[in-house]
Amino acid sequence: MTHKVLVATGGGDCPGLNAVIRGIVKRASIEKEDWKIYGCIESFNGILKDKVELVELTDEMVSGLHVKGGTIIKTTNRGGPFHFPVKQPDGSWVMEDRSLLMKQRLQDMGFEAVINIGGDGSQGISLDLMNIGINVVGVPKTIDNDLSSTDFTFGFQTAVQIATEAFDKLVTTAESHNRVFIMEVMGRDAGWIALHTALAGGAEVCIIPEIPYDARNIVKKIETRYKNGMGFCNIVIAEGAKKADGKVTGNAPEAVGDRHIKLGGVGEVLRRELLDLGIEHDVRVTVLGHLQRGGTPVAYDRILATEFGVKAFELVKEHKYGNLVVYRHPDISHVPLEEALKSPHLVQPDKDFLVHAAKSIGICFGDE
Ligand code: F6P
Repeated sequence: MTHKVLVATGGGDCPGLNAVIRGIVKRASIEKEDWKIYGCIESFNGILKDKVELVELTDEMVSGLHVKGGTIIKTTNRGGPFHFPVKQPDGSWVMEDRSLLMKQRLQDMGFEAVINIGGDGSQGISLDLMNIGINVVGVPKTIDNDLSSTDFTFGFQTAVQIATEAFDKLVTTAESHNRVFIMEVMGRDAGWIALHTALAGGAEVCIIPEIPYDARNIVKKIETRYKNGMGFCNIVIAEGAKKADGKVTGNAPEAVGDRHIKLGGVGEVLRRELLDLGIEHDVRVTVLGHLQRGGTPVAYDRILATEFGVKAFELVKEHKYGNLVVYRHPDISHVPLEEALKSPHLVQPDKDFLVHAAKSIGICFGDE
């Protein structure tokens, strides 16, 4: 008997996606029975579009893939089975529910399960697919590390490594020019990338969404770093950073089917605030952007992603559908999707030792 499994990668890409795919395919290939793994091109679009686009993932195709960034089966964070954008003759777009079409096609093609590799948005889709009778196993992915059910997601350590290397470079140039550098990093509503980078890079200031900031406190910190115009200061700011009024800086979704507002620009907002408060030093902003998601995964992420791939296949084999693969030290295990999606994993300023450690070594969070 031949078993068929469909694999999709959804949401923003993330270093380690290919390593998960490789883990699934290699694990399947050691089975006595015949397992065929297919990739769905561009998240679920491959099975939702009028012309189906699937690719059989063979052992040869995944060889050496653990090192490669991105996803060989492509991804998107727009649309999905329940909101599939369809262009109308008048040029407007209508969101169509194609979930039952997807179910029918899976049945017709003989797929017994789907492995959906994605973040919170994609795993919400996994749950909705389960609820219409599709067998799904989820694999968590995000550089933001904002899923509460797993200790870490793959991609996060790579993003932190990239951000730290960039930060180290900014430190030397800040020192040479007596400048204030603001480095804006990703993370959406979670400050994990910023917090880890601040600790690893030795930032003077770290601004995260979980701790609203007052720019006057940052000015005070900067001024302690300068004497007679000499000195420098390095700031890491998370893209979702907020002032006391809770407002974030970003733009409404522009593209058809976009699910999120586009965060970004808070580094420049902070720069203006510092200047308005009378800072006379040269303040520069670097936005790291998608560099944090690109390129080769670090060793940690390759390992975690491989373990996730192996586990995802084993859950399918054991018919343990409706679960998300998770890492809970020291085990790779699984939790029901409903539970996994209950609450995001955000920095807890009063509980996380990382915040305590950062404050203890003098890092300013802009709150005091
Ligand atoms: O969730 C991952 C992430 O990189 C966030 O940190 C960031 O806000 C968002 O995706 C950017 O998404 P996009 O690439 O669609 O602009």
